[in-house]
Amino acid sequence: MPIPFIFHVIENGPPAWLRDNAWPIIYSASTITALTVLKRYTAGQTNTSEQKLYGKVVLLTGGTSGVGAEVAYQLAARGAQLCLLTQTPASDPFLVEYIQDLRERTKNNLIYAEQVDLSSLHSIRKFATKWIDNAPPRRLDMIVLCAATLTPPGGARKLTEEGIEETWMVNYLANFHLLSILSPAIRAQPFDRDVRIVIATCSSYIGSPALKEPFDENNWSPGKAYARSKLALNVFGKAYQKHLDTYKRPDQLPMNARVVFVDPGLSRTPGMRRWLTRGSLFGLGLYLGGYIIPWFLLKSPYQGAQSFLYAIMESRLRRIEGGQLVKECMEVDFARTDVDDDKVAKKLWQESDALIERVEKEQAKKRAAKRAEQKLEEEERRRAKGKEKEADKAETMSIASSKSDKEKDKNKDKSKAKKKSSKK
Ligand SMILES: NC(=O)c1ccc[n+]([C@@H]2O[C@H](COP(=O)([O-])OP(=O)(O)OC[C@H]3O[C@@H](n4cnc5c(N)ncnc54)[C@H](OP(=O)(O)O)[C@@H]3O)[C@@H](O)[C@H]2O)c1
Repeated sequence: MPIPFIFHVIENGPPAWLRDNAWPIIYSASTITALTVLKRYTAGQTNTSEQKLYGKVVLLTGGTSGVGAEVAYQLAARGAQLCLLTQTPASDPFLVEYIQDLRERTKNNLIYAEQVDLSSLHSIRKFATKWIDNAPPRRLDMIVLCAATLTPPGGARKLTEEGIEETWMVNYLANFHLLSILSPAIRAQPFDRDVRIVIATCSSYIGSPALKEPFDENNWSPGKAYARSKLALNVFGKAYQKHLDTYKRPDQLPMNARVVFVDPGLSRTPGMRRWLTRGSLFGLGLYLGGYIIPWFLLKSPYQGAQSFLYAIMESRLRRIEGGQLVKECMEVDFARTDVDDDKVAKKLWQESDALIERVEKEQAKKRAAKRAEQKLEEEERRRAKGKEKEADKAETMSIASSKSDKEKDKNKDKSKAKKKSSKK
C-alpha cells in the first residue's frame, strides 16, 4: 500500500488532500518522530552481556522495590541463589508473598530473605557477623547494593533510632558497615571466582558539596543529603577496592573481587515517585494525572536495571581494574577528582569507623540497661506471682481447715445425738 502510493505521488504529484493538509501533516509527523526519538533516548541502552548465573550466591539490598526488584528478578531468572536483605522480617506476609511470586515467575526456588534494617548498625552487624562466622567460609559471588532512601523536597531531617541522620545512614554508612564486616568473607573466596560488589550510585553526587565541608542541621536539605551520601559511597567504594587490592592472598594470587558502581539513570520507581510527588497525596494526584510526562522522560525499572545487568555479567569488567563507574551499559568517568582522592577517603573511613564505634558502644550500653530493667521487672512479676500463689494457698488452707472444723463439729453433734438416743 505505501509503495504504490509513493509511485503514484512521484508520477502524478501529491493528491489534493495531501496538498491541502501539507503543514498539519508535516507538523504531526515531525512531532511523532521527535517524541519517538526522545522516548528511545530516555529509555537508555540495553544490556547485551549475558552469563548463566546458576550456583552463584548473591546478597542483594533494595531487592523489593524499583530497580532493585527488577535486578532481583533478572538475577533469579538466570539461576542465581538470591539472599534479599530486607528491612522487614522474613516472616512478613507481604515479603513471603513477594518471594513466592518471584520463585514462581523465575522457576527458581533458591530465593530467600534475611532481615537487615539498613538504618540500624546493630541489625547489620547481627547479619554480617552471622554470615562470616561460618567455617569454611560461605560461597559469595556478588553483593549488589541497591537500597537507598531519600527525603522528599521540603521534608524534615530525620534521625535513626540510633541517632544518625537517616540518609547518611541508609545510603552510605550501612554499606560501609556491611562491606567492612563482610571483607574477610570476600577475601576468602577462591581465586577463580568472579566476585563483584555492585554499588548503586546517582549522578547527583557530581553536584554534592565536598565531604570536607561542614554539613549539619543548619545547612541540611534533602537533595544535598542524598547527593552527599552518594558521593561518600563512591569515595568509600573506590577506597574499598584499594583495600581489597592490597590484601596479600595466602595463595599469592591477585585479588579477584571487583567493585563496580552503577548509575541506573532517572527511572520511574517508588523512590523517584516519592521525590517527584513530595510524598503528598496532592502530588500523587498530579503525578498520575500527568503520567505521560514521567513515562516519556524517565526509564522503566527494567530499563534502569540494564546497567546493573551489564555490571553483573560483562566479562571485561573482570579483566580490568576495579572501581569502574557504569552508566548506559558502558564505563564512564566519575567527573569528580575527589572520588579518587586518598586523603579524602582516609578521613571519611576514619570518621565512619569512629562514628560506628561510638554509636555501637552507646547502643550496647542501652541494650544492656534495657535487658537489666526487663530482668528486674520479670523478677518483680515472678515475686508478685509467688506472693499471690502463697496467699491463694493460705486462703485455700484456711477454707479447708474451717471446713474440717465444721465437719468435726457436725460429727461431734452426731455422736452426741447418738449417745442421747442410746440412753433413751
Ligand atoms: N530511581 C532513580 O531514578 C535513580 C536514579 C539514580 C540512582 N538511583 C539509585 O538506584 C537505587 C535503586 O533506586 P530505586 O529508585 O529503585 O529505589 P526505591 O524504589 O526507592 O527502593 C529503595 C529500596 O531500598 C530499600 N530500603 C530503604 N530503606 C531501607 C532500610 N532501612 N533497610 C533496608 N532496605 C531499605 C527499600 O526497601 P522497602 O521496599 O522495604 O522499603 C527498597 O527496596 C538506589 O540506590 C538509588 O539511589 C535511582
